[in-house]
Amino acid sequence: MGVTQFLILSQLVYLTTCMDQLHIMYEWKQLDYQFPNDEARQQALDSKSFVPENNIPMGLEVYEDRLFITVPRWRHGVPSSLNYVNLKDNSTTSPKLIPYPSWAAHTTGLDGKPSEIISPFRVRADKCGRLWVLDNGKIGNLENNTTKYPPSIIIYDLRTDSLIRKYMIPDDQVKEDSGFANIAVEDTDCANTYAYAGDLGKPGIVVYSFGKNESWRITHHYFHPDPLACDFSVKGYNFSWTDAIFGIGISAPNPDNFSTLYFHPMASYNEFSVSTEYLRNQSVADDNFEAFKVLGSRGPNAQSSVSFVDPKTGVLFYSLVNLNAVACWRTSNKDYNMKNQGRIYMNEETMIYPTDIKVDYDDNLWILSNRMPIWMYGKLNSSEFNFRVFSAPVLDAISHTACDITPRSDILDKYKDKFLNITNKIASKFKPNSATSFYPLSYSFLLVSWIIACSLY
Ligand SMILES: *[C@@H]1O[C@H](CO)[C@@H](O)[C@H](O)[C@H]1NC(C)=O
Ligand SMILES: *[C@@H]1O[C@H](CO)[C@@H](O)[C@H](O)[C@H]1NC(C)=O
Ligand SMILES: *[C@@H]1O[C@H](CO)[C@@H](O)[C@H](O)[C@H]1NC(C)=O
Ligand SMILES: *[C@@H]1O[C@H](CO)[C@@H](O)[C@H](O)[C@H]1NC(C)=O
Ligand SMILES: *[C@@H]1O[C@H](CO)[C@@H](O)[C@H](O)[C@H]1NC(C)=O
Ligand SMILES: *[C@@H]1O[C@H](CO)[C@@H](O)[C@H](O)[C@H]1NC(C)=O
Ligand SMILES: *[C@@H]1O[C@H](CO)[C@@H](O)[C@H](O)[C@H]1NC(C)=O
Ligand SMILES: *[C@@H]1O[C@H](CO)[C@@H](O)[C@H](O)[C@H]1NC(C)=O
Ligand SMILES: *[C@@H]1O[C@H](CO)[C@@H](O)[C@H](O)[C@H]1NC(C)=O
Repeated sequence: MGVTQFLILSQLVYLTTCMDQLHIMYEWKQLDYQFPNDEARQQALDSKSFVPENNIPMGLEVYEDRLFITVPRWRHGVPSSLNYVNLKDNSTTSPKLIPYPSWAAHTTGLDGKPSEIISPFRVRADKCGRLWVLDNGKIGNLENNTTKYPPSIIIYDLRTDSLIRKYMIPDDQVKEDSGFANIAVEDTDCANTYAYAGDLGKPGIVVYSFGKNESWRITHHYFHPDPLACDFSVKGYNFSWTDAIFGIGISAPNPDNFSTLYFHPMASYNEFSVSTEYLRNQSVADDNFEAFKVLGSRGPNAQSSVSFVDPKTGVLFYSLVNLNAVACWRTSNKDYNMKNQGRIYMNEETMIYPTDIKVDYDDNLWILSNRMPIWMYGKLNSSEFNFRVFSAPVLDAISHTACDITPRSDILDKYKDKFLNITNKIASKFKPNSATSFYPLSYSFLLVSWIIACSLY
């Protein structure tokens, strides 16, 4: 066992004594849908238009009484790829999914006309009461006959559930390997809203202007995957992913009404940022490549998928997929490094593959975990809970972490010394002759800030 592995393990042990302040609101062994009646459900099962084990929840969003759940069509047998459950219905913690906006929007026409919604991964409800659906457009991309439609941005009115607009991303902005998974919406002005769609397959961001009904594609080398950060290990499944730009989170606007977009490729340990001032015009972005900033590194093994900025507290939340954890960083912090990261939740059973993170308009944090690597490379056990939705008020979730409003640097320094000593001792036991102080040092910082999470009660 290497030093890094040991430290990760010991971190897990220490951290299990912590109290993570999130509650499990929903959990499912397998997904099921609210079909019009039992016959329709049985017919869907018989015709394989519903294959329960091929359905996995990927994205979540909360707006008023509804919790939206996306189920992308990576494999066949997904009856409806955008759904919701009613948050007021507390009769079960494993509710059936209700297609949004209707069954019809998910049905292929008799003439073969594709359904209105094909396969979204993530959606975003803006403050103007609109649901932005980033539709990947691919069916069966984990099977051997993929059907591709143009990716699109579909916008619904959440008050009437009617379609406001479906915008197909133009061909010249979609590349052979493109995969559009994550969307951030800058809704400072409801009429002049901008949406940012990350392309994880061919590094790029497609920017869509609602006011102009036009989009353009921005590229930058910071969108690229880091070849040294492509190895992942989740629950014994080791795999290599080369995903480019993935986590995108948008801050509250500055006095000039520009937000900051925080972003990272999935195959990367680093976090980056750029003002939307540079994204709102393609030639301005091209002429100002230095406007894109490197914030810093989360440290080894700390690849992150999804991220989200809470506009009110300015806290950036993000997943740490190899650690079965969700962490946070205050965007007002000057330094993005290990010690300034807080631990929101970590659990080897319930938080396997945190896949989506949102903060709703009542200041609650929501997290969805779905065990995706097991689903992809192995088989989920349908007798166990595989998918979970967690929630807590943001202030509870960040309290006593490095993202808490009150800084605790005094305590941090005390613990830093102590854990440097301990981790250096451990390191010397495992690798007596090597001078690899880097890992122990960095992990001790991570340990320090995360252990503080438990020690302040
Ligand atoms: C479920 O919701 C109803 C109405 O919102 C409420 O009266 C009831 O106490 C709730 N039940 C539980 C178990 O929370
Ligand atoms: C998929 O590929 C397998 C072998 O690679 C083949 O047996 C199967 O028929 C293919 N299925 C389709 C739908 O093309
Ligand atoms: C493969 O494509 C064909 C033709 O489009 C379709 O009939 C078939 O169901 C697909 N196979 C799978 C496994 O989806
Ligand atoms: C920023 O946007 C708000 C809301 O649309 C508007 O009231 C304000 O005038 C804008 N400020 C600037 C500097 O453009
Ligand atoms: C937006 O642009 C697309 C083509 O780029 C067009 O088909 C659509 O009608 C436009 N929508 C509106 C509301 O202007
Ligand atoms: C998977 O990766 C982990 C950590 O990198 C390593 O300890 C383990 O031996 C690997 N397992 C396999 C089967 O390769
Ligand atoms: C983008 O910026 C360039 C240079 O500042 C300007 O000439 C151009 O009109 C702008 N384009 C749009 C669509 O605003
Ligand atoms: C599936 O989970 C159940 C309940 O935890 C367990 O009893 C069973 O052994 C598991 N099956 C497999 C194949 O792991
Ligand atoms: C750490 O170790 C050094 C020397 O090995 C010692 O002087 C120091 O007091 C230790 N610090 C703590 C906090 O234990």
